[in-house]
Amino acid sequence: MRPFWFLFLFITLVTSQSSPALKKPDNETIYKVSKQLCWGCIGESLQFLFAHNMVRAYKWELPLMWDSDLEKYARWWAGQRKSDCKAQHSFPEDDFKLGENIYWGSGSTWTPADAVSAWADEEKYYTYLTNTCEVGQVCGHYTQIVWRNTRRIGCARIVCDSGDVFMTCNYDPVGNYVGERPY
Ligand SMILES: *[C@@H]1O[C@H](CO)[C@@H](O)[C@H](O)[C@H]1NC(C)=O
Repeated sequence: MRPFWFLFLFITLVTSQSSPALKKPDNETIYKVSKQLCWGCIGESLQFLFAHNMVRAYKWELPLMWDSDLEKYARWWAGQRKSDCKAQHSFPEDDFKLGENIYWGSGSTWTPADAVSAWADEEKYYTYLTNTCEVGQVCGHYTQIVWRNTRRIGCARIVCDSGDVFMTCNYDPVGNYVGERPY
């Protein structure tokens, strides 16, 4: 009887060790974790964080946590854009103090999940092996989302006077160092 028992145990161990690694990150777990990392969060904030953490989970990156100072900063910048809705960064091109992804959508219905999936969609242009982006494409929004050393985010969404949507997310520590891989 003994060898059988060992065999069974062995198979069980192998199975239970190998299956979690094959499993895709499950959205309910990531949602719960995001909720815990988003203290006092409601509505859009949690949507922004959850969407980011799903993208990171696919790369086995630690989840980001929501930061109210970053949120305040993002809200301030979104407020500045309310009247013109220009897809414009809050920092000069060569001096980003924080990571920053921005989004502009025609019409008022675009959600935080839409913005994050548009950014994350750039993955198809990015080649990890050479750490390059396809010519004529942008990959920086995606690489900021999955940047390993980034820990905190804060985002804001605003419907501009024109009826279009502007969204902005800030990331700390800042990612996208030239010549460095995101993960
Ligand atoms: C997780 O995914 C399932 C299936 O796509 C969906 O029904 C469910 O609402 C999702 N849960 C969350 C928290 O997004």
